[in-house]
Amino acid sequence: MCGIVGYVGRRPALPILVEGLRRLEYRGYDSAGVALVDQEGLWVAKSAGRLYVLEQQLDFTAPQTRGLGHTRWATHGAPTEANAHPQLDASGRFAVVHNGIIENDRALRKYLEQKGVIFKSETDTEVLAQLIGQLYDGNLERAVRQALHEVSGTYGIAVMCTFEPDVIIAARKGSPLIVGVGQGEHLLASDAAAILAHTTQVVYLDDGEIARITPEQLRLTTLDAIPVTKAVEEIEWTLEQIELGGYEHFMLKEINEQPEALENCLRGRIDLAEGTVHLGGLVDCARELTRARRIILTACGTAWHASLVGEYLFEEMARIPTETEYASEFRYRNPVIDDGTVLIAVSQSGETMDTLAALREGKQRGALTLGVVNVVGSTIPRETDAGVYLHVGPEIGVASTKAFSGQVAVLSLLACYLGRRKHMSAASAMQFITALSQIPRQMREILQRADEARAIAERFGEHNNWLYLGRGFNYPVALEGALKIKEIAYIHAEGLPAAEMKHGPIALITEGMPVVCIATAGVQYEKILNNISQVRGRGGSVIAVATEGDKEIRRLSDHVLYVPDTLEPLQPLLTVIPLQLIAYHAAVLRGCNVDKPRNLAKSVTVE
Ligand code: F6R
Repeated sequence: MCGIVGYVGRRPALPILVEGLRRLEYRGYDSAGVALVDQEGLWVAKSAGRLYVLEQQLDFTAPQTRGLGHTRWATHGAPTEANAHPQLDASGRFAVVHNGIIENDRALRKYLEQKGVIFKSETDTEVLAQLIGQLYDGNLERAVRQALHEVSGTYGIAVMCTFEPDVIIAARKGSPLIVGVGQGEHLLASDAAAILAHTTQVVYLDDGEIARITPEQLRLTTLDAIPVTKAVEEIEWTLEQIELGGYEHFMLKEINEQPEALENCLRGRIDLAEGTVHLGGLVDCARELTRARRIILTACGTAWHASLVGEYLFEEMARIPTETEYASEFRYRNPVIDDGTVLIAVSQSGETMDTLAALREGKQRGALTLGVVNVVGSTIPRETDAGVYLHVGPEIGVASTKAFSGQVAVLSLLACYLGRRKHMSAASAMQFITALSQIPRQMREILQRADEARAIAERFGEHNNWLYLGRGFNYPVALEGALKIKEIAYIHAEGLPAAEMKHGPIALITEGMPVVCIATAGVQYEKILNNISQVRGRGGSVIAVATEGDKEIRRLSDHVLYVPDTLEPLQPLLTVIPLQLIAYHAAVLRGCNVDKPRNLAKSVTVE
């Protein structure tokens, strides 16, 4: 959603800020702005709409070497130039960029208005800027600290002023911030992608911390001014990973990256000789996990679909009762968490507000909490007791693809890890992880036949209603296929457990309606063939995803997309790929903005 970039150093700040904002575009935004600062004053440019609109107003030869940039996703007030950040105080000497929501902004606004402050925007951020301006008595850090004691809500903020032009004050509560450490310079960002071109050395701020950043120095304290010492960490992402690298869209790049991403995810974690799984992040809670009596997986969207695969995996392989909960529902229910409950929060970004809130709810009620997260250093892994990173690299496309397969792969590893601690024999674990280690190669085979999925998109791309059917481990994949085509091609689609179709949705099937049926080899194969016949009997066009070598399916379906054979619990890692490709090509053919679908943000950090 919103994005922050800051720079204090020796180089002209503007190109660095704008480049950083460009790298944050993928997160979604509807206005943008920059502020440069020196003793003379603040120089601010803002605009509604895309970044290129802002760029048209900028003089890239500006000499200032300090500044802030922001991309805003409107919450308080429309996406207008006035509401864009940076927000200034009445004197025009203090600039604030802010991610998050100040909850008591109305009360603060009223208080400031009574003191004669005239507001220029509808934003909660301006309230903060005005408050800091009022509280300033010669020390910016102190003014920010005092202001933050007055506000409730969430924030990642960066503040600059003309009185102390060398200084950025940054603070975090519930909204991520990272300080990049360079030679005679420091950068600030809400997402590592914004600063990766300049440094891989970073310090992650935690909630309740304030950073005072100058070109030469970074000083961290708590909100109550207690000094904090932190190690500089290395970001493992590379610049190539956040660039298109010749692909037309990030989504296509990330679909194609899945084999390599899975190799990275599995590396060092599977021990084929011993038939066992090593998950370093779980070492400290191994004993507690062995005693787990119930697992709750909680997530949103695609991560929820991956979690549902996890539920099937945990019950099948570890025989532990498992439920998958929408984080947004879980957090407001009165969930029963008893002794032996493990709550696993699954998230690509590690910042999704609902998932974070569900995690906190579970933690408060005494669950052991684990994170299955992609972004290292994000909020969820900082708040869980333990966890496993996906290591699939940055996901820039708004539609989640390689994170889904990474989540399923990690949950497969976890199921095997737990299974081995319960009743699973070394032989069956060995069979499972051998099959898992083949998945990257099998994914490559599917990707080599990507044209077949494209042909389906060409044939059916005009249809505005699709059904996706799956059973067992492939039921979550049906949900995921439907979500992908909805969110990027704006096609209405429903994913269903295939047998549910006859309880209502079958009424939707009309002549030629595309119905994607995942009909891979497995215990329910015959059952799904029956579902296919029911669809065809009503005139639907069946697009089957089937196991290589299955000739029978050709006779029963209109089109077949084959995937290599694997164990049934691992099929989602393969069957999802043709569905991602169909959605991608349908979106391109329909002229949709694949990487920035309408109304969507990459990381949903609000309710
Ligand atoms: C769909 C998609 C979303 C996310 C959901 C959770 O393609 O990307 O449904 O999966 O917003 O996001 P994370 O995984 O970051 O918690």
